[in-house]
Amino acid sequence: MTIASAPGKIILFGEHAVVYGRPALAAPVTQVHADVEITASDRPGAWIHAPGISLHSELNSLSSDHPIASVIHNFFFLARVSPPANLSIHISSTIPVASGLGSGAAVTVALVRALALHFNFPMTDEEINAFAYEIEKIHHGTPSGIDNTVVTYAKPVYFVRGQPIETFTVGLPFTIVIGDTGIPAPTKESVGDVRKLWEADKAKWERVFDQIGMIVKEAREKIESGRWKDLGGLMNDNHTLLQEMTVSSPELDRLVEAARKAGAAGAKLSGGGRGGNMIALVQPSEAEAVVRSLKETGAKNVIVTQIG
Ligand code: PMV
Repeated sequence: MTIASAPGKIILFGEHAVVYGRPALAAPVTQVHADVEITASDRPGAWIHAPGISLHSELNSLSSDHPIASVIHNFFFLARVSPPANLSIHISSTIPVASGLGSGAAVTVALVRALALHFNFPMTDEEINAFAYEIEKIHHGTPSGIDNTVVTYAKPVYFVRGQPIETFTVGLPFTIVIGDTGIPAPTKESVGDVRKLWEADKAKWERVFDQIGMIVKEAREKIESGRWKDLGGLMNDNHTLLQEMTVSSPELDRLVEAARKAGAAGAKLSGGGRGGNMIALVQPSEAEAVVRSLKETGAKNVIVTQIG
């Protein structure tokens, strides 16, 4: 039996603008993860069991652009595995789907790592990341590559599209509360809508993306020098710009507001937006009050995590 897993992730700053070449900061969230278990089987074919999405199918009965089938087909091609390979592949994940926590990337990375181990086909992180990026295109359309990068390296990342991976140091660890609206929102749609806005008025949106890029650079400096308390205002500013981009939602705004009122230093949506998750920066002593307030305001799930 072979097992592998991959963490979830949050985007701290810079989502959406990152698609247009600006930097973004993201970090792994190890409290949630995707896990894959592969066993050789006597039953003919490669059987995929992913109870979380009610999937119990043989590989060849799935359409070839199904994200999970694509991972397996692409891996078989790369590693020159000639089917039939008789396998049982069990996929589970505690990362909510379509909620900005990188569930698609985590399933891909865990699955390709498990396949590489099972077929004794060593792959470097760089190769896994490049592989996962190709699959992200099926999930997202025009992904920046940030999700697969953070999930593959499982480290805080300063990400610029098309540039070599740059991890960053965290001067002093800080606490983030993650609140889930419980509303699934495909990133592909919000990314597509931002593209329409951009196409209609490139000069305006380039300026907004520049402002976000500056927030990201300032945030990185503060994180590296341990001045995390100064990040709150930057988070609020980033959220305002995301609202302007139309990627927030009443539910996200309500949770962001509730977190601020309960004492968070700052809060913003995280990821594609429209639904999914928001994040709030808190003093550890205030985490409980913020968690309570988010739950009272309707958050379906709340996670407290430490960055660094
Ligand atoms: O997968 P999500 O929802 O965390 O979104 C990824 C971040 C975006 O900037 C919105 C899209 C991208 O590909 O970078």
